[in-house]
Amino acid sequence: MTVLSPVLPLRSGALIPQIGLGTWPMDDDEAASAVNTAVGLGYRHFDTAENYGNEKGVGEGLRRSGLDRSEAFITTKFNKEWHSFDGARQAAEAALQRLGTDYVDLLLIHWPNPGLNRFVDAFRGMRAAQEDGLVRAIGVSNFKPAHLQQLADAGLVPEVNQIQLDPYRPRRDVRESHARLDIVTEAWSPLGKGTDLLKDSRITALADKYGRTPAQIVLRWDVQSGLVTIPKSANPQRMAENLDVFGFELDAEEMAALDGMETDDRISDSDVFGH
Ligand code: A2P
Repeated sequence: MTVLSPVLPLRSGALIPQIGLGTWPMDDDEAASAVNTAVGLGYRHFDTAENYGNEKGVGEGLRRSGLDRSEAFITTKFNKEWHSFDGARQAAEAALQRLGTDYVDLLLIHWPNPGLNRFVDAFRGMRAAQEDGLVRAIGVSNFKPAHLQQLADAGLVPEVNQIQLDPYRPRRDVRESHARLDIVTEAWSPLGKGTDLLKDSRITALADKYGRTPAQIVLRWDVQSGLVTIPKSANPQRMAENLDVFGFELDAEEMAALDGMETDDRISDSDVFGH
C-alpha cells in the first residue's frame, strides 16, 4: 500500500509534505536509485544540497520514477561561496541545471556562516529568485535565534528553518523563535545521529506497546509535534517504515515523555561550523 504524507502550508502557499527523504551521504547513483524507490513507496518530498554532491542523482531518480514534476517537492541548499545577492540566484540556477528541473520547491541557505555576515544579502537574492519563479519557497538551515533575528530586523523571514533535531536535542530555543516568526521547523537527522536514541528504553517501550519500530515512534513524535522531518535511508524496507507513521497516535502523556528527553548531546555549532 502506498502511504502519502500529510502536507503543511508554507507562507508562500507551497505545501510541504511532513515526511521527506533525506539523501546525505548518498552519491548520485545511490540517490537516483533511492529516490526512484521512494517514489514508489509514496515519498513526494526529497531533500538534497549542493554540498551533498547528489543533486544530479536526485533529479535522475525523479525522472526514472515517472512522477509528474508537479507531484514532487524538491529542497536544495547552497554553500557559503554564494552568500551574496547575485550569488544566491547563480546558486539557484546552477542547482536547477544539476537537478534538470526548472524550479525548486524550497531553496535554503545551508549554513549561516555568521563570520562572513552575508546571509542577509543572500536571502534578498533568494527572494528575487522566488519572485522570478526559479524557487517556490525560501528558507534557511542551521540558523540560531540570533541569525533569524538578524534576518527579521532586515524585514526578511524564512518560511522554513531546517535544523538538527531529535528527542535528545529538541532545540526549544530555536522552535520558540519559529513560533514567534511563523517559521516551519524541519528536522534533519531526526533519528538521533551519533546517539543511542533508537535503543532508549523510553522509545523501545512505546515501540513494543504500539507494535511499531523505535524509528516510527520518533518520527510519529515529529509529526505530532508539527515538524517536517527528513529521515535518510537507502534501505527500501526502512524507507517504507519511516513513511508509515500515520496509522497510530501517541497520547498526551507519551508526547510529554518524549518532550522531556533532552540530554546534553552536542550539535554542530553554526556560529563556528558551516560550508
Ligand atoms: P540506512 O540508510 O542504512 O537505512 P538520520 O536521517 O536521522 O540521520 O538517520 C540516518 C541513519 O539512520 C542512517 O544510518 C540510516 O541507515 C538509519 N536509519 C534510517 N531509517 C532507519 C530506521 N527506520 N531504523 C533504523 N535505522 C534507520
